[in-house]
Amino acid sequence: MNEKFRLVTDSQVILKELMVPSYANFGGKVHGGVILSLMDKIAYTCAASHAKSYCVTASVDSVNFLNPVEVGELLTLYASVNYVGRSSMEVGIRVESEDFHAGVCKHTNTSYFSMVALNEETRKPLAVPGLILSSETEVQRFVKGKLRKLAKRQYTEDFAKLGDDLDFAQEATKLKKENCKIKLPK
Ligand SMILES: CC(C)(COP(=O)(O)OP(=O)(O)OC[C@H]1O[C@@H](n2cnc3c(N)ncnc32)[C@H](O)[C@@H]1OP(=O)(O)O)[C@@H](O)C(=O)NCCC(=O)NCCS
Repeated sequence: MNEKFRLVTDSQVILKELMVPSYANFGGKVHGGVILSLMDKIAYTCAASHAKSYCVTASVDSVNFLNPVEVGELLTLYASVNYVGRSSMEVGIRVESEDFHAGVCKHTNTSYFSMVALNEETRKPLAVPGLILSSETEVQRFVKGKLRKLAKRQYTEDFAKLGDDLDFAQEATKLKKENCKIKLPK
Protein backbone atom coordinates (compact mmCIF):
# COMPACT_ATOMS: atom_id res chain seq x y z
CA MET A 1 0.00 0.00 0.00
CA ASN A 2 1.36 3.44 -0.95
CA GLU A 3 0.94 5.82 1.99
CA LYS A 4 0.57 9.53 1.20
CA PHE A 5 2.27 10.57 4.46
CA ARG A 6 4.68 8.78 6.71
CA LEU A 7 5.96 9.42 10.22
CA VAL A 8 9.50 10.79 10.62
CA THR A 9 10.20 8.00 13.12
CA ASP A 10 9.32 5.32 10.53
CA SER A 11 12.52 6.00 8.58
CA GLN A 12 14.95 7.14 11.30
CA VAL A 13 18.16 5.11 11.28
CA ILE A 14 21.09 4.64 13.68
CA LEU A 15 24.35 3.16 12.42
CA LYS A 16 27.25 2.17 14.68
CA GLU A 17 30.71 1.30 13.39
CA LEU A 18 33.99 0.60 15.19
CA MET A 19 36.90 2.62 13.79
CA VAL A 20 39.42 -0.11 12.90
CA PRO A 21 43.13 0.53 12.07
CA SER A 22 42.55 0.13 8.31
CA TYR A 23 40.42 3.32 8.42
CA ALA A 24 43.40 5.46 9.47
CA ASN A 25 45.05 8.12 7.31
CA PHE A 26 48.79 8.91 7.29
CA GLY A 27 48.33 11.04 10.42
CA GLY A 28 46.87 8.09 12.37
CA LYS A 29 43.35 9.59 12.56
CA VAL A 30 40.28 8.16 10.82
CA HIS A 31 40.14 9.19 7.16
CA GLY A 32 37.39 11.75 6.42
CA GLY A 33 36.41 9.70 3.37
CA VAL A 34 35.47 6.74 5.60
CA ILE A 35 33.07 8.94 7.55
CA LEU A 36 31.63 10.42 4.34
CA SER A 37 31.04 6.93 2.97
CA LEU A 38 29.17 5.89 6.14
CA MET A 39 27.13 9.10 5.93
CA ASP A 40 26.19 8.35 2.32
CA LYS A 41 25.17 4.83 3.32
CA ILE A 42 22.91 5.96 6.17
CA ALA A 43 21.45 8.81 4.07
CA TYR A 44 20.45 6.28 1.41
CA THR A 45 18.96 3.87 3.99
CA CYS A 46 16.94 6.64 5.62
CA ALA A 47 15.68 8.19 2.34
CA ALA A 48 14.85 4.82 0.73
CA SER A 49 13.00 3.76 3.90
CA HIS A 50 10.84 6.87 3.65
CA ALA A 51 10.33 6.76 -0.13
CA LYS A 52 10.17 2.95 -0.36
CA SER A 53 12.03 3.31 -3.64
CA TYR A 54 15.48 3.63 -5.18
CA CYS A 55 17.17 6.98 -4.38
CA VAL A 56 20.30 8.87 -5.41
CA THR A 57 22.39 11.43 -3.58
CA ALA A 58 21.80 14.77 -5.34
CA SER A 59 24.02 16.92 -3.11
CA VAL A 60 25.70 17.17 0.27
CA ASP A 61 25.72 20.32 2.37
CA SER A 62 28.08 21.50 5.08
CA VAL A 63 30.47 18.76 6.11
CA ASN A 64 32.53 20.53 8.76
CA PHE A 65 34.59 18.13 10.83
CA LEU A 66 34.57 19.63 14.34
CA ASN A 67 36.78 16.98 15.99
CA PRO A 68 39.13 14.27 14.69
CA VAL A 69 38.03 10.64 15.09
CA GLU A 70 40.57 8.23 16.57
CA VAL A 71 41.13 4.57 15.68
CA GLY A 72 39.43 2.41 18.35
CA GLU A 73 36.51 4.82 18.85
CA LEU A 74 32.92 3.85 18.20
CA LEU A 75 31.22 6.05 15.62
CA THR A 76 27.44 6.50 15.82
CA LEU A 77 25.46 8.11 13.01
CA TYR A 78 21.86 9.26 13.52
CA ALA A 79 19.79 9.98 10.39
CA SER A 80 16.33 11.45 10.01
CA VAL A 81 14.31 12.82 7.09
CA ASN A 82 13.98 16.52 7.91
CA TYR A 83 12.21 17.84 4.86
CA VAL A 84 10.40 16.42 1.85
CA GLY A 85 9.61 18.19 -1.43
CA ARG A 86 7.98 16.42 -4.38
CA SER A 87 10.72 13.89 -5.14
CA SER A 88 13.56 15.19 -2.95
CA MET A 89 14.25 14.60 0.74
CA GLU A 90 16.69 16.32 3.05
CA VAL A 91 18.27 13.80 5.42
CA GLY A 92 19.95 15.30 8.49
CA ILE A 93 22.86 13.27 9.86
CA ARG A 94 24.51 13.73 13.24
CA VAL A 95 27.80 11.92 13.79
CA GLU A 96 29.28 11.26 17.24
CA SER A 97 32.41 9.40 18.28
CA GLU A 98 32.88 7.67 21.61
CA ASP A 99 36.12 6.85 23.40
CA PHE A 100 35.21 4.03 25.83
CA HIS A 101 38.43 4.23 27.87
CA ALA A 102 38.19 7.96 28.55
CA GLY A 103 34.38 7.86 28.72
CA VAL A 104 34.24 10.82 26.28
CA CYS A 105 31.66 11.35 23.55
CA LYS A 106 32.40 13.99 20.85
CA HIS A 107 30.24 15.61 18.19
CA THR A 108 32.05 14.98 14.91
CA ASN A 109 29.71 16.75 12.50
CA THR A 110 26.13 17.41 11.44
CA SER A 111 25.45 17.38 7.71
CA TYR A 112 22.54 17.49 5.32
CA PHE A 113 22.17 15.16 2.34
CA SER A 114 19.69 15.89 -0.47
CA MET A 115 18.36 12.61 -1.77
CA VAL A 116 16.05 12.17 -4.77
CA ALA A 117 13.74 9.19 -5.32
CA LEU A 118 13.94 7.77 -8.84
CA ASN A 119 11.86 5.38 -10.88
CA GLU A 120 14.35 2.58 -11.48
CA GLU A 121 13.25 1.97 -15.08
CA THR A 122 12.72 5.50 -16.40
CA ARG A 123 15.33 7.10 -14.05
CA LYS A 124 12.89 10.00 -13.64
CA PRO A 125 12.27 11.64 -10.23
CA LEU A 126 9.45 9.96 -8.37
CA ALA A 127 6.96 11.61 -5.97
CA VAL A 128 7.59 10.59 -2.37
CA PRO A 129 5.18 10.49 0.60
CA GLY A 130 4.87 13.63 2.73
CA LEU A 131 6.00 13.81 6.34
CA ILE A 132 3.77 13.64 9.41
CA LEU A 133 5.41 16.09 11.84
CA SER A 134 4.58 14.97 15.36
CA SER A 135 6.88 17.09 17.56
CA GLU A 136 8.07 20.69 17.77
CA THR A 137 11.57 19.47 16.83
CA GLU A 138 10.25 17.82 13.67
CA VAL A 139 8.36 20.99 12.69
CA GLN A 140 11.53 23.07 13.26
CA ARG A 141 13.67 20.66 11.22
CA PHE A 142 11.15 20.74 8.36
CA VAL A 143 11.10 24.57 8.34
CA LYS A 144 14.92 24.73 8.40
CA GLY A 145 15.15 22.12 5.61
CA LYS A 146 12.76 24.15 3.46
CA LEU A 147 14.77 27.35 4.12
CA ARG A 148 18.06 25.58 3.30
CA LYS A 149 16.59 24.41 -0.03
CA LEU A 150 15.44 27.96 -0.89
CA ALA A 151 18.77 29.48 0.21
CA LYS A 152 20.71 26.94 -1.87
CA ARG A 153 18.59 27.65 -4.96
CA GLN A 154 19.12 31.41 -4.48
CA TYR A 155 22.88 30.95 -4.00
CA THR A 156 23.12 28.78 -7.15
CA GLU A 157 21.20 31.36 -9.19
CA ASP A 158 23.20 34.31 -7.80
CA PHE A 159 26.54 32.60 -8.38
CA ALA A 160 25.61 31.61 -11.96
CA LYS A 161 24.64 35.25 -12.69
CA LEU A 162 27.83 36.52 -11.06
CA GLY A 163 29.87 34.24 -13.34
CA ASP A 164 28.15 35.67 -16.43
CA ASP A 165 28.81 39.30 -15.43
CA LEU A 166 32.33 38.97 -14.02
CA ASP A 167 35.17 40.97 -15.52
CA PHE A 168 38.00 38.53 -14.77
CA ALA A 169 40.77 40.94 -15.82
CA GLN A 170 39.40 43.50 -13.35
CA GLU A 171 39.00 40.85 -10.60
CA ALA A 172 42.58 39.66 -11.19
CA THR A 173 43.87 43.13 -10.20
CA LYS A 174 42.34 42.53 -6.72
CA LEU A 175 44.43 39.41 -6.02
CA LYS A 176 47.57 41.20 -4.76
CA LYS A 177 46.94 40.25 -1.10
CA GLU A 178 45.85 36.71 -1.95
CA ASN A 179 48.09 33.66 -1.65
CA CYS A 180 48.85 33.30 -5.37
CA LYS A 181 51.21 34.51 -8.12
CA ILE A 182 49.97 35.16 -11.61
CA LYS A 183 52.48 33.82 -14.16
CA LEU A 184 50.68 33.73 -17.48
CA PRO A 185 52.51 32.31 -20.55
CA LYS A 186 53.96 35.07 -22.77
C1 LIG B 1 19.47 14.36 -8.74
C2 LIG B 1 18.85 14.20 -10.14
C3 LIG B 1 17.98 12.95 -10.13
C4 LIG B 1 17.97 15.42 -10.41
O1 LIG B 1 17.47 15.25 -11.70
P1 LIG B 1 16.75 16.47 -12.45
O2 LIG B 1 16.45 16.05 -13.82
O3 LIG B 1 17.52 17.72 -12.20
O4 LIG B 1 15.37 16.50 -11.73
P2 LIG B 1 14.47 17.72 -11.33
O5 LIG B 1 14.98 19.04 -11.83
O6 LIG B 1 13.07 17.31 -11.70
O7 LIG B 1 14.61 17.72 -9.75
C5 LIG B 1 14.06 16.66 -8.99
C6 LIG B 1 14.21 17.03 -7.53
O8 LIG B 1 15.60 16.99 -7.20
C7 LIG B 1 15.97 18.21 -6.56
N1 LIG B 1 17.37 18.46 -6.93
C8 LIG B 1 17.90 18.45 -8.16
N2 LIG B 1 19.21 18.71 -8.09
C9 LIG B 1 19.49 18.91 -6.78
C10 LIG B 1 20.68 19.22 -6.06
N3 LIG B 1 21.85 19.38 -6.66
N4 LIG B 1 20.61 19.35 -4.73
C11 LIG B 1 19.42 19.16 -4.09
N5 LIG B 1 18.25 18.85 -4.70
C12 LIG B 1 18.30 18.73 -6.04
C13 LIG B 1 15.01 19.24 -7.12
O9 LIG B 1 14.89 20.35 -6.27
C14 LIG B 1 13.72 18.44 -7.20
O10 LIG B 1 13.14 18.38 -5.90
P3 LIG B 1 11.55 18.25 -5.70
O11 LIG B 1 11.04 17.19 -6.63
O12 LIG B 1 11.40 17.84 -4.29
O13 LIG B 1 10.97 19.58 -5.98
C15 LIG B 1 19.93 14.06 -11.26
O14 LIG B 1 20.67 15.27 -11.30
C16 LIG B 1 20.86 12.90 -11.06
O15 LIG B 1 20.51 11.77 -11.36
N6 LIG B 1 22.09 13.15 -10.55
C17 LIG B 1 23.05 12.11 -10.32
C18 LIG B 1 22.85 11.49 -8.95
C19 LIG B 1 23.93 10.49 -8.64
O16 LIG B 1 24.31 9.73 -9.50
N7 LIG B 1 24.40 10.54 -7.40
C20 LIG B 1 25.60 9.86 -6.97
C21 LIG B 1 25.50 8.41 -6.83
S1 LIG B 1 24.14 7.84 -5.85
